[in-house]
Amino acid sequence: MDVIGVVVTAVWAMLPAYVPNNAAVLAGGGRPIDGGRTMGGRRVLGDGKTWRGTLAGTLAGTVLALVLTTVAPAVSDVIGYALPEFPLRAGLGLAFGAMAGDIGASFLKRRSGRERGAAFPGLDQLDFVVGALLAAVVFAPAWTLATFTLPVLAAVLLLTPLLHVVTNVGAYLLGVKNEPW
Ligand code: CTP
Ligand code: MG
Repeated sequence: MDVIGVVVTAVWAMLPAYVPNNAAVLAGGGRPIDGGRTMGGRRVLGDGKTWRGTLAGTLAGTVLALVLTTVAPAVSDVIGYALPEFPLRAGLGLAFGAMAGDIGASFLKRRSGRERGAAFPGLDQLDFVVGALLAAVVFAPAWTLATFTLPVLAAVLLLTPLLHVVTNVGAYLLGVKNEPW
C-alpha cells in the first residue's frame, strides 16, 4: 500500500475512536461518573466526565463503525484502496476505548492537580488513541492486528495529534467547546 493508502486507512480505521469525544461534548452533562467523590482532596475524575457523555460517545462511535462498514465496499471502489470494515466488537472497542482513555486522562489530570478543563499536552492528544487501540485489541484481537499494521499504526500516532488539535480549535471557534484543547 502506498503512503496515501496508509493515511486513508489510518483515518478511516480510527474514525469510530475520533467521534466519541466530540459526541460527548455535545451530549455531556448530568451525573458525573465519580458521583462527586474526591481522592486526596481532589475530585476522582471531575464534572467533565459524565455517564451521559460516556454513553453517548460510545454509542456514536459504535454506530459510525456500523455505517462505515455498510459503505466501505462502495467507498473502496471509488478511491481504489481496500478500506477496513468493522465487526461490531471492533467498533465498540474503538469507541468505548476512546472514552475510557479520556477518562483515564482526567484521572491523571486530577491526581497531578490540574483542574477540570486544564490542558495536559501530549496526554490530551493521545489518551483516546491508546485507550481505543488497547480496547480494540482486547475486544477484537485478530481484526486489530490485521488492520493496524505497523505503517498504519505509525500514521495514526502521527496524524491523530494533528487532527485532534484542528477539530478542537474548530469546536472552540464554533462555540461548542469551552477550551481549544
Ligand atoms: N464529556 C462528558 N463525558 C465524558 C467526556 C466528556 O460528559 N466521558 C463532556 C463534558 O461536558 C466535558 C466536555 O464533554 O466538559 C469536554 O470534554 P473534555 O475536554 O474531555 O472534559 P473537560 O471538561 O475538559 O474535563 P477534563 O479536564 O477532565 O478533561
Ligand atoms: Mg477538556
